[in-house]
Amino acid sequence: MDKKIAIRGQMLSFSGDAFALGLADTMHHENDAVVVMQDGIIQEVGSADALWYSLGDDVKKINYGQDHLIMPGFIDSHVHYPQTQIMAAYGEQLIDWLNTYTFVAEQQFSDPSHAREVAEVFINESLRAGTTTSAVFATVHPDSVDAIFDAASERNMRMIAGKVWMDRHAPEGLLDTAQSAYDDSQALIKKWHGKGRNLYAITPRFAPTSSVEQLELAGALWQEHPSCYVQSHISESQKEIEWALSLFPDCKDYLAIYERFGLLGPRAIYGHGIWLSDDERARCAETGTGIAHCPTSNGFLGSGLFDLVQAKSQGLAVGLATDVGAGTSLSMLQTMNQAYQVAQLNGHALSAGHAFYLATRGTAEALQLADKVGSIEAGKEADVLVMDMKSTDLIDFRMGFAESFEEQLFIQMIMGDDRATAATYVAGVCVYQK
Ligand code: GUN
Ligand code: ZN
Repeated sequence: MDKKIAIRGQMLSFSGDAFALGLADTMHHENDAVVVMQDGIIQEVGSADALWYSLGDDVKKINYGQDHLIMPGFIDSHVHYPQTQIMAAYGEQLIDWLNTYTFVAEQQFSDPSHAREVAEVFINESLRAGTTTSAVFATVHPDSVDAIFDAASERNMRMIAGKVWMDRHAPEGLLDTAQSAYDDSQALIKKWHGKGRNLYAITPRFAPTSSVEQLELAGALWQEHPSCYVQSHISESQKEIEWALSLFPDCKDYLAIYERFGLLGPRAIYGHGIWLSDDERARCAETGTGIAHCPTSNGFLGSGLFDLVQAKSQGLAVGLATDVGAGTSLSMLQTMNQAYQVAQLNGHALSAGHAFYLATRGTAEALQLADKVGSIEAGKEADVLVMDMKSTDLIDFRMGFAESFEEQLFIQMIMGDDRATAATYVAGVCVYQK
């Protein structure tokens, strides 16, 4: 048994869908709380009055104080670790950006040592930003999947990742075949899915880079391994949609392509979905298919404004995501900042409570992981972020004028970034400390 650790500070967690059920019934804030962790699990949560003074001498106690907020680690529902090296690549929109920057960079991942180096940077920077779980695209190279799962396993993180499938419309060095993608993914599932905290995602990049035969095999592989994830992209840019539909002329809309190959359902999560129709959103909701909202990426590539409120009102499972390297930050606080601005442009003011829900439990729900992570509750896995609510001089100054906890939270999501991470715990162990 590991030594018990008890941490003390303010505490924030959510017990259900803040959009569907309202914040009053789902958002839980304690001014002075204690969270007790042992063996990777949250053992006890309660008020400091009730818990702190009764803790035995065998417990390691850390009092972070009232300026610190204990909350679930952030969850990123869509990110490309190999693209860490091409963040902030100038000037292009989606298809040109892929050809000019992404497909060039991803070819370097044929070198396993390069993959390992970038995976280390990605994981360390995610933890610095307070993110404890991500759904990650590797590259077409199986070694690039080993690199990210090895880096995650060393820190005992709950990680979702998979090998990208592409058998057309990409440079020679990035092409697999329908059969090799299937065989490689089959082997990677055996090696990684359910090993430790790792979960495997079958990862066809998007419809335009896979043949009919390849998407058929992706669907078949998911049927053989239904506890795996499926991740891909959908309806990110107008040009992409036209291209996808020209390649699959029998499909009535973009979603119908993935539908045809059996790639919709719980544990399928698609990046973007900006331009989905009401009917496509309804079919996502019916099938339990998740959409990853990637606001910094959508602004950076000029892709469009995802309507979060519309999506949630149709019952869609929506996660928040950085989508690095089109995304401009690995910080979910910065991602919430951009989500707020996109919602404003859609005529809605996204509250801090809803945004923090989305970045934690909401994303866990979209990934079918809410029974394990995304909230601070006894029995859940102990992935915890301790947030410094006064992480810069300017935030400290601004906080002096905040009149409510909601306002304090809003300041964090608009002005905060990775400097707000005081400590990140993964499975009850402190893996990052400022
Ligand atoms: N669509 C297909 N591949 C990608 C990618 O790597 N990034 C983004 N933003 N969209 C994509
Ligand atoms: Zn993406």
